[in-house]
Amino acid sequence: MLELSLVMVKPHAFNKKKLGKIVSMLEQNEFSIVGLKSIKLSKELARRFYFVHEGKEFFERLITYMSSDTIAAICVQKENCVKDLRKLVGATDPTKAAEGTIRREVGENVEANGVHASDCIENAKKEIRFFFSDIELFSFQYLDY
Ligand code: CMP
Repeated sequence: MLELSLVMVKPHAFNKKKLGKIVSMLEQNEFSIVGLKSIKLSKELARRFYFVHEGKEFFERLITYMSSDTIAAICVQKENCVKDLRKLVGATDPTKAAEGTIRREVGENVEANGVHASDCIENAKKEIRFFFSDIELFSFQYLDY
């Protein structure tokens, strides 16, 4: 099934100019780039994006990190996009991520692990809507998100 998902390039990866490499890995794996923007999150926006992790031991560190510098939000499209993207992104801990995954290539540690990817279709819809309006998304083959 044709789906959309969201990739967020984290501050250290963006700062170290890994955006091009990440886009290239996405394209080489048949993901189409539907929307792309760079933005610096405020702490409040980072809290809203990561609200499901509120209360966890790492939450405040994650918010401070994610609002520390520019990030990029990328909306991608593919058949079975959400599952295939999670596979390409790899395990949360880059040292445990498989060879050829994005986190293995650009991740440094569990926090600065290169990218975030939506974990299910429902969250992909919410996360895409968090960053993009209708007119910012490439409209051909645009799904009812
Ligand atoms: P991400 O996919 O962006 O979703 C939540 C993030 O929390 C996760 O990637 C990690 O970067 C970060 N994080 C920090 N510490 C932990 C931890 N102990 N367990 C899981 N995620 C963590």
